[in-house]
Amino acid sequence: RGCPHGETRTQTVFAKGDPLSTLCFVGEAPGEEEDAQGLPFVGDSGRFLDRQIAAMREYATSIGVEFPAAPYVCNVLKCRPQGNKLLADGADIAACSAHLWAQLRLLPNLQVIVAVGRVAAQTLLGSEEAISKLRGVPSLIGFGAVLCIPIYHPAYLLRRRNNKALHTKTWADLKLAVEGLR
Ligand code: URA
Repeated sequence: RGCPHGETRTQTVFAKGDPLSTLCFVGEAPGEEEDAQGLPFVGDSGRFLDRQIAAMREYATSIGVEFPAAPYVCNVLKCRPQGNKLLADGADIAACSAHLWAQLRLLPNLQVIVAVGRVAAQTLLGSEEAISKLRGVPSLIGFGAVLCIPIYHPAYLLRRRNNKALHTKTWADLKLAVEGLR
């Protein structure tokens, strides 16, 4: 309840997947379906992310990389913002990112974080760059030797289904994430 979203959400949405996983996806914030179920990425974006993860698993098998059965999935924000609108002043991200860092530090086997979308990428990298600039550039972050790989958000890709270039770039990014698990 460190920001106003704590007063309007149905429940907090913390994480899904295996905390012992080597791979983690960090999204932006719960949406309507996530708020109702208490789980991250269970709506349209989640179904798209599931397909991306399945493709990553196939690629991992093809190059002999061990891929987690249930990658860890969470968001920067733990509460659904009213109307899915983040606060203009960033006070929600400022309040909740402490929880995110604490949460990530507790994943003992973490090797790769896929930062899903602009908000996750900017938060994890401490940057204000556009996602188009952040993606395609893997970087080691803060604690241990964890590789952070920013990607375009599924909701963004779903609104641009016919933009082959965006989808091709995202698949290249996801392959880098798999290769980071070597
Ligand atoms: N669902 C989530 O849990 N996070 C997002 O960023 C989008 C949809």
